[in-house]
Amino acid sequence: MREFTYKSRDGEVRVLINVDHSAAIEGVLGNYTGCVAFVSRSIVDKVRTKCPVVPVVDGEEGKSIESALSIVRSAHELGIDRDGLFIGVGGGSVLDVVGFSASIYLRGVDYVNAPTTMLSMVDASLGGKTGVNALGLKNIIGVIRQPRYVIVDLSFLESLPTPNYIDGFAEVIKYGVTLDKDLLDQVINRSGELLSKDRVILEEVIYRSLRDKAEIVKADELDRAGVRAVLNYGHTVGHAIEAVTNFSVSHGKAVALGMICESRIGVRLGYTPRDVPDILLSALSKFDLINKVDIDVNGLVNAMVRDKKRSGDFIKLPVVTDVGKWSLVKVGVGELVRLVIEECRSMP
Ligand SMILES: NC(=O)c1ccc[n+]([C@@H]2O[C@H](COP(=O)([O-])OP(=O)(O)OC[C@H]3O[C@@H](n4cnc5c(N)ncnc54)[C@H](O)[C@@H]3O)[C@@H](O)[C@H]2O)c1
Repeated sequence: MREFTYKSRDGEVRVLINVDHSAAIEGVLGNYTGCVAFVSRSIVDKVRTKCPVVPVVDGEEGKSIESALSIVRSAHELGIDRDGLFIGVGGGSVLDVVGFSASIYLRGVDYVNAPTTMLSMVDASLGGKTGVNALGLKNIIGVIRQPRYVIVDLSFLESLPTPNYIDGFAEVIKYGVTLDKDLLDQVINRSGELLSKDRVILEEVIYRSLRDKAEIVKADELDRAGVRAVLNYGHTVGHAIEAVTNFSVSHGKAVALGMICESRIGVRLGYTPRDVPDILLSALSKFDLINKVDIDVNGLVNAMVRDKKRSGDFIKLPVVTDVGKWSLVKVGVGELVRLVIEECRSMP
């Protein structure tokens, strides 16, 4: 078991990794007048808690304003007051909608994130970004409000299908290449154990990933100072790949190709060492995250120029300056488009 805390605007966040969710939840309930667990429909039978359990539709479909209102209604019917606790148990989609609902219910109550997918264990459970999709737009409504606890129970990974499991490693490799060379080495050298869900190495890798993310969140909680932008490495192109392939490429695989493309662009811009794209390719391939996809490069470029991080004629792009180090650069949209066409037409 590993644990750490980080300070946020909303108070101290306690992060517990490789614990039994039931015991960990019991351990925090003493501070609250009531509790309710909003649990992903797909794993209700695996959750043990004294709190009332309300199943939640998961996936993007469940991440809606209607779902948030239904969560608010359930909490009200269960008599949860301002000193009550919401517990979200599920993948990133459930944690996002439960966190958002906790933030608006009675102007905000504490909440716990108990992630059950690899992606949510290393990423979505920490950082306080909550939100729902609306008007056909992803994450268009949301707030930044930190959870009070993050409780990671590795046993949930047992039932997680392999494609969902490996997807989370794209984010781990992202932390490694931008922030933490030792983490990247560990993931590369121990990929076999990680793929067989060995809990000793998983605990270590999830701990390091969440610590790395927490350092960034602490430095730029509201995503205004240009530090949190590093968490977006591979995502400018990755999101465009998801859009242009109509989400037939998974998030992890889209971010994997996005990192390859953005690292090649970093090389062309003169910031990234020449061997980084190959280091990334080799690490991502170990987790089967690299597939050849036919990308319509014009569609890709169109999706990118609509990116929400665009400001005027520029896009701010994090680039790797050495393995484990990064910097934020401002690239003209025209130049970026040209580089994407030249470097990313054929990937990997
Ligand atoms: N808030 C953030 O900082 C942040 C960061 C990254 C991603 N996200 C969000 O996270 C979402 C993606 O999260 P995700 O990849 O966890 O997907 P998800 O929540 O959609 O879950 C994927 C699938 O896994 C199933 N599932 C969940 N846990 C399971 C388990 N233990 N065993 C078997 N099946 C299980 C779910 O039913 C679902 O079908 C996106 O909406 C994304 O926007 C948020």
